[in-house]
Amino acid sequence: MIPDSRLSQQLKSQLKIPVMAGPMFIASTADLAIAQCNAGIIGSMPALNPRTTEALDQDIARIKKNVGDMPYAINLVAHSTNSRLKADLDVVMKHKVPIVVLALAANPDLVRQLQTNGSLVFQDVVKNRHARKCAEMGVDGIIAVGAGAGGHTGNISPFALVQEIREWWEGLLILSGCIANGRSVLAAEALGADLAYIGSPFLASAEADTQDDFKRMIVEGAADDIVTTNCFTGVDANFLKPSLLQHGVDPANLARSEGKGINIDGGGDNAKAWKEIWSAGQGIGAVKRSEPAGEYIDWLVKDYAQARNRMNLVT
Ligand SMILES: Cc1cc2nc3c(=O)[nH]c(=O)nc-3n(C[C@H](O)[C@H](O)[C@H](O)COP(=O)(O)O)c2cc1C
Repeated sequence: MIPDSRLSQQLKSQLKIPVMAGPMFIASTADLAIAQCNAGIIGSMPALNPRTTEALDQDIARIKKNVGDMPYAINLVAHSTNSRLKADLDVVMKHKVPIVVLALAANPDLVRQLQTNGSLVFQDVVKNRHARKCAEMGVDGIIAVGAGAGGHTGNISPFALVQEIREWWEGLLILSGCIANGRSVLAAEALGADLAYIGSPFLASAEADTQDDFKRMIVEGAADDIVTTNCFTGVDANFLKPSLLQHGVDPANLARSEGKGINIDGGGDNAKAWKEIWSAGQGIGAVKRSEPAGEYIDWLVKDYAQARNRMNLVT
């Protein structure tokens, strides 16, 4: 099957490198999204990061004003426990946000409503079966979240996940999980993805709303410092072992949560995860310093060009 490359070509023509930033709860600020876009990738921010819907409205207006024609994305958690969904959706529709990333659950009406209003709709998935459901809903792009990703993670190797989805999906495919350097961006393309999705490296960015200690753990950490557990949110997510230890939680003795279901609205253990117990993916070994996002992206662009040269690909 030949992938339908029109949307891919259109987006890539606007980017310095085929990369989209993964939106991150609490960490991704409007300033981070602006810096990402201005450095040549698709910037993103979760709708829930600004404290209120009014603040979201102001943040999107500021992003729009500062990124020119660059595409940016807002992430809506389309799950019944998100009490702000309706109000935030209205704001996203008002601004005609170019890309909306739907997370966790969605319905075809929501997808159609956003598309009719002019947004591209991307949805993240951790399994081929979920990808088929998204395709049936008519999404414009599928984000395949492989094993080792920061935040809510997949458990399937990207080799298997992309291969299974690419067998039948001709549309835009974005690969997420542990991508942090130029070689990995190129590898994502070689696997069959159009774009690479990068989250955790931006946790160390100057513009991220992350404490200094969190940034330090990203810079000093590597794959061995990451543990997968569903005990905080009901579904598997990756957390930094040093952060668990700081809160007296033994990473070797995490209880499995059975059938608790997912809750993203905060409260109890769930509020503690993300805010106090910090999440990151296995790719953080590539992050060598805390710096402005633009400097990391400039390095990524160079590293990607070098990776292409090493493979004798024309730049
Ligand atoms: C701290 C943190 C918070 C995250 N929050 C969200 C979120 O609110 N919504 C979402 O769709 N993805 C979220 N993600 C997932 C990222 O968008 C992205 O899929 C992931 O970070 C990619 O893997 P990587 O961290 O290995 O690069 C989060 C990831 C991290 C590390």
